[in-house]
Amino acid sequence: MSSSMKVVTSLAEMRAAGKALPGPLGLVPTMGFLHEGHLSLVRRAKAECPSVAVSIFVNPTQFGPSEDLARYPRDLPRDLALLESAGADLVWTPSAEEMYPQGFQTWVQVDGLTLPLEGVVRPGHFRGVTTVVAKLFNAVGADRAYFGQKDAQQVAVIRRMAADLNFRCEVIVCPIVREADGLAMSSRNTYLNPEERKAATVLSRGWTAAQAAYQNGERSAEALRQIVTETVAAEPLARLQYVSCADYETLQELEQLTGRTLLSMAVFVGKTRLIDNCILG
Ligand code: PAJ
Repeated sequence: MSSSMKVVTSLAEMRAAGKALPGPLGLVPTMGFLHEGHLSLVRRAKAECPSVAVSIFVNPTQFGPSEDLARYPRDLPRDLALLESAGADLVWTPSAEEMYPQGFQTWVQVDGLTLPLEGVVRPGHFRGVTTVVAKLFNAVGADRAYFGQKDAQQVAVIRRMAADLNFRCEVIVCPIVREADGLAMSSRNTYLNPEERKAATVLSRGWTAAQAAYQNGERSAEALRQIVTETVAAEPLARLQYVSCADYETLQELEQLTGRTLLSMAVFVGKTRLIDNCILG
């Protein structure tokens, strides 16, 4: 396979390289330490766009003060090899200094959608996400950007931002890629020790049980949340942070399920915080 994947760091190089590629241009924003979930986005982008750019940037502004920014896993050589075989044309690895120079003071903030769920337990997180994604969209000039359903609220927030700010980039959502035992792939899975790794299936076991109840006709949101709560409670290494059964569009908690519903959860397995979700209806 002949390869011509280009790797750039500066904003100027990124802009020039983006312009030189034949369009439409697809963008896959990532924080690196890539796995099959990320690569599925790259392959989907490659199937739909003549050119694909991938950004790798561990964005400091989306991490809270007590979160894992310093120990977030990184392995650029491995990431580049994976991206090359997935068919990426351009990789942008911006520096924090250029993304957030001295004097930086402009933020992109989505209101209502960022308040529930992750917004409750990770204040400021989405402000960091939307700000960096807006910067990535502007710098890359992509026609389409690919995101994973794994981060369901992130997708809702980014869609909202793109619509509200008239970004010309189309937001495309791709399904969650899982390990054979159901655990949603995540760069953070690497923090789990072997026992925790086994216990981590509690998230997918939780929503699978709730989904089964839904398929048997259960329409009470509280009953579905309770199924997840009990599944997680039965796992000694796991602690439920939240479980939600919310309207897919507004992310508002429901009493009864009528339309498209997002069942989502955050669970600590040991010290590692994991999220998962499924769509009902
Ligand atoms: P990161 O966690 O690296 O994820 C990059 C993209 O991969 C996101 O769109 C995420 O939803 C998707 N992804 C992660 N795990 C996945 C899985 N198991 N299946 C399918 N897709 C998956 O999300 C971020 O980075 C950052 O917030 C970012 C958008 C890059 C802004 O900094």
